[in-house]
Amino acid sequence: MFQSAVALAAMSLLTGTNADLQTCSTNSGYSCASSSTTPTCCFNYPGGALLQTQFWDTSPSTGPSTSWTIHGLWPDNCDGTYESSCDSSRAYTNITDILQTQGRDDLLDYMDEYWVDINGDNESFWAHEWGKHGTCINTIDPDCYQGYTAQEEVGDFFEKVVDLFKGLDTYKALAAAGITPSTSKTYTLSAIQSALTEMHGASVYLGCSSGKLNQVWYFYNVQGNAIDGSYKAVKTLTNSGCPSTGIKYVPK
Ligand SMILES: *[C@@H]1O[C@H](CO)[C@@H](O)[C@H](O)[C@H]1NC(C)=O
Ligand SMILES: *[C@@H]1O[C@H](CO)[C@@H](O)[C@H](O)[C@H]1NC(C)=O
Repeated sequence: MFQSAVALAAMSLLTGTNADLQTCSTNSGYSCASSSTTPTCCFNYPGGALLQTQFWDTSPSTGPSTSWTIHGLWPDNCDGTYESSCDSSRAYTNITDILQTQGRDDLLDYMDEYWVDINGDNESFWAHEWGKHGTCINTIDPDCYQGYTAQEEVGDFFEKVVDLFKGLDTYKALAAAGITPSTSKTYTLSAIQSALTEMHGASVYLGCSSGKLNQVWYFYNVQGNAIDGSYKAVKTLTNSGCPSTGIKYVPK
């Protein structure tokens, strides 16, 4: 008995599924798609739209020159508005310590490369993303865990964001459509949108600053909890912040 529990725990670390979160049936349906307005440990509400958000930072540049970087995972309401900073008692500032204590060193290494702050203060950036957005994901409330261990939901959150990001290689999807960083070329919004829609399966939010592409948000609805649940791509709830033509995608 004891041995199999240990094996199970080890396996859940490897696969990212969480044995401590209660198992959800598929009856709840997908967040936002269901008329239910009752938040439960198996139904994301009111933040039923989960957004994996990414940056292309060039001034100064952050992260690898051939990869976008992680911004976060945001629970938006189903109309694109959102709640923020939902639990000050869990707005931890010691994210590195938490992840190390949980043995998530590989995750931390990955975050140090791909989840980087524009001012070099990664720890504050991670704490900000957790406190502002992570604490609003109702399905990872500590009450949703059986045999909860300290800050377990924090580690689960960061691991899930990284898992989603790994499946959304924006740089590669754009390059496959001939959209590569350039100091001289410009691109149309529809070409960028179509390349990323093809990867994701639904339209995305694109952000620009001074005509330079610098953000993308991928929207999902989720069946079950935000860690083990099934993620379904859904179209953007927010209008793009880029011009329709002449978009620059500058090299890092
Ligand atoms: C992180 O900070 C919280 C709140 O101060 C504290 O309860 C917890 O023990 C700390 N965790 C680690 C691993 O240092
Ligand atoms: C944040 O991450 C970047 C990229 O890995 C690194 O160069 C920088 O030293 C990190 N900053 C801190 C404060 O850890």
